[in-house]
Amino acid sequence: MAEPKENLQMEKIVSLCKRRGFVFQSSEIYGGLNGFWDYGPLGAELKRNVKELWWHAMTRQRDDVAGLEATIVMSPKIWEASGHVATFSDPMCDCLLTKKRFRADQIEPQSGIVYHYEKAIDLSSFDDFISEFPESVRPAVLEDLKRFWSDSTIDVQTEIDRIIRLHLGQDQSPTAVVNSFRHASVPTEFESYSVLLPVGKPPESARKIAVQFYQQKGFQKPILIGERTERIENSTRYNPENGSLLTEPRPFNLMFKTYVGPTATEADVAYLRPETAQAIFAQFKNVLETSRQKVPFGIAQVGKAFRNEVTPRNFTFRSREFEQMELEFFIKPDEVIEAIHGSVATVSETGHPGEPQPNWGWQAWHQYWVEERVRFYEGIGLSRETLGFHIQTKEELAHYARACTDILFKFPFSKKDAAGNVTGDELEGIAARSDFDLSQHQRFSGKPMGVFDDELRAAWAKLPKEKSDVLWKRYYDNRKNYLTKSAKPDETPEQISQQATEDANGLAKGQYIPHVIEPSAGVDRLILALIANAYTETTKTDDKGKSETIYTMKFHPRVAPIKAGVLPLLKNKPELVKKAMQVRELLRPWMNVFYDEGGSIGKRYARQDEAGTPFCVTIDFDTLGEKPELLDTVTIRYRDDGKQERMKISELLDFLLSKVR
Ligand code: GAP
Repeated sequence: MAEPKENLQMEKIVSLCKRRGFVFQSSEIYGGLNGFWDYGPLGAELKRNVKELWWHAMTRQRDDVAGLEATIVMSPKIWEASGHVATFSDPMCDCLLTKKRFRADQIEPQSGIVYHYEKAIDLSSFDDFISEFPESVRPAVLEDLKRFWSDSTIDVQTEIDRIIRLHLGQDQSPTAVVNSFRHASVPTEFESYSVLLPVGKPPESARKIAVQFYQQKGFQKPILIGERTERIENSTRYNPENGSLLTEPRPFNLMFKTYVGPTATEADVAYLRPETAQAIFAQFKNVLETSRQKVPFGIAQVGKAFRNEVTPRNFTFRSREFEQMELEFFIKPDEVIEAIHGSVATVSETGHPGEPQPNWGWQAWHQYWVEERVRFYEGIGLSRETLGFHIQTKEELAHYARACTDILFKFPFSKKDAAGNVTGDELEGIAARSDFDLSQHQRFSGKPMGVFDDELRAAWAKLPKEKSDVLWKRYYDNRKNYLTKSAKPDETPEQISQQATEDANGLAKGQYIPHVIEPSAGVDRLILALIANAYTETTKTDDKGKSETIYTMKFHPRVAPIKAGVLPLLKNKPELVKKAMQVRELLRPWMNVFYDEGGSIGKRYARQDEAGTPFCVTIDFDTLGEKPELLDTVTIRYRDDGKQERMKISELLDFLLSKVR
């Protein structure tokens, strides 16, 4: 029952990533560190491009988003408030045989025959007893002993006497023999054990695994007792690789712990952040006050996050150290919108709702951000066909969340649904998180996280009483619901009602706690998606019938690590080299270019194709004026179709910039 091998496509991608310097295993020379990856020269450029494009799209190109760069280690109180200390865990179980760790919710259900063993006896502890018998009868003694061990109703004394009389033929039990039996203690720990085998596999396979298990527990000569079989369907209690029973699932907190300061006591415990989002909430007031933003507005951050994942897997997809690009977009609660604008805009659940409007509630903003993010992906080469969506069900949503849409990418390892369509795996989640986060930080820090809105205060004063009563009650109910679910053990229902009343009364004064829409993307997953999407293999056969596989990384020019290769036709012609270097210097301040003069021009094109360089600029004798009308022109060669065209050097920069920006 071996785990299916990672698919061939992924193996090829991983291999190209190493060969071309996109991604290396971290600490490779020491055997690597599971769940940690380094980006090589091309990978580092690709990553930088992606982060810059995100930053540009999310902050600089907008008036309503400000940036933040917070520390990785923060007060541990932040993680108490966010709920990470108490609940940021995955169910984990271990193989009882190999100790390999699994995420319980990721084990593929399996069916087959379970071989249960009631216990095992360590025969070595009965060596003395058995050696009292002649060699020829020892197997029979063993069988009798096994029967005796499997049946707790058999009386020890009677049975031992019987065995001795039967096999030694003596009238009386010799004391030494009886004592040697009594001396032998039956180990009781890890008594029962079971193994799951696919139907049709011989029982010996299960016995072999069970014997190995008991040997690991210190039994020198395990004898399996009480074998019983059972047919089971869709069980996740067994190791899919060897059939061994797993431990019961138990929660495993994913945060990496560290100590701040030299004493390293429990009071010094801190955590490496498992997400960048919480710093944004913790700094919400500072950013609001210094950026001159008003709700609705967002705070964006790109940075490292750390999760001690139980089973890192699928290359960089699930790593222990990774980067996130997160936006917390703060919006007015729907009650506030209704008080100011009379009603909340209705939106259809699909399609872009257009330019943001003042009367948008959380649904319109959520829809807007889902579509904005899809547009971003399309703009860097991931077409809609390569993406998928997962709208979280009520059961999947966190208790405070109103909606969450995951944008998926169809990775080579993504599974198919019942209809045979590839579903995809999560690139990014866009969650409508209500006012939970700011409320939590307000409660845990004691610092107000609400905002004051003059427009609300003025509008509230003019509301008919029936309307303000309805809005007040809705806001009150939402606050009470939150306060009840997040209550500390010593908080009484009266205190909660009082707090909810105060919060709802705040509306009339123009006060509220903003709600938030959170588009949260993983940089590394996006890099992997871009690499998988770009990877193209073609086979070329020459005149002599010899075939060769050609690899081309068809990155969108915006993300491509190298934007242009600058190639003098010949390296031993100083005039060509000099001109090529001038072209390189022309382009270099604006984009990453690669100067290459080694090997035939065909080989150099192929190297750039493999690196994903969308354009190659060749400087030849015509550039130098061999044909006077072509003086100071170059050849541009396009990666994806190999076509070439002539262009004036004076037009080159503008042309390339129009493609790579
Ligand atoms: N603040 C919300 C948050 O962190 P998440 O779904 O846990 O939500 C957001 O993470 C994104 O971060 C994911 O969609 C994914 O792209 C990325 N991510 C999460 N865990 C990751 C891991 N172990 N390795 C790589 N990327 C990860």
